[in-house]
Amino acid sequence: MIKLAILASGSGSNAEKIMAHFQGSTKAAISLIASNKADAFVMERAKKFGVPTFTFTRKEMDAGVLLAKLQEEKIDWVILAGFLLKIPEELIRAFPNRMVNIHPALLPKYGGKGMYGHHVHEAVKAAGDTETGITIHLVNEHYDEGKIIFQAATSVTPEDTPDSIAQKVHTLEHRYFPEVIESLLGS
Ligand code: GRF
Repeated sequence: MIKLAILASGSGSNAEKIMAHFQGSTKAAISLIASNKADAFVMERAKKFGVPTFTFTRKEMDAGVLLAKLQEEKIDWVILAGFLLKIPEELIRAFPNRMVNIHPALLPKYGGKGMYGHHVHEAVKAAGDTETGITIHLVNEHYDEGKIIFQAATSVTPEDTPDSIAQKVHTLEHRYFPEVIESLLGS
């Protein structure tokens, strides 16, 4: 059984789709939901699926506490689904080509520092872009610059607001993220 951990800081709608996707799988299991926010809604979602949770502070993560937990649980893959802290290099190096992130835009556009959540959709709107989308990529030491595994696009109309753009992007994320993760795990 391949063991996956999901790191999330917020609502966790992607985490929920991933947990639902792998429920009953004979190939892989979501073994841990880890968050830097004890009151993040993703924790409720984890309970609903009976997935163990782990919370930690930024300081603890930087001191290696999260890495130790992932190793103790024998985690094979780390999935970042709305995780907002910068991952320590030591942790990235412990999962070479085994750490995946989803970014709510078509990288390399709208990536890098400060480009997360609503900031991304506001920037897309302000630029007047006619499309946006999702990027699923491996994580390396350079934020949002790891190898791109998958992208999908959606149209942006002049009527769209940052909120409606966010909804369109979430729809794509929910549709594709679980199956792209599964394809990465091999057969
Ligand atoms: C997603 O849009 C993801 O791309 C971004 O953070 C958001 C998390 O949403 N990195 P949710 O917590 O999964 O609902």
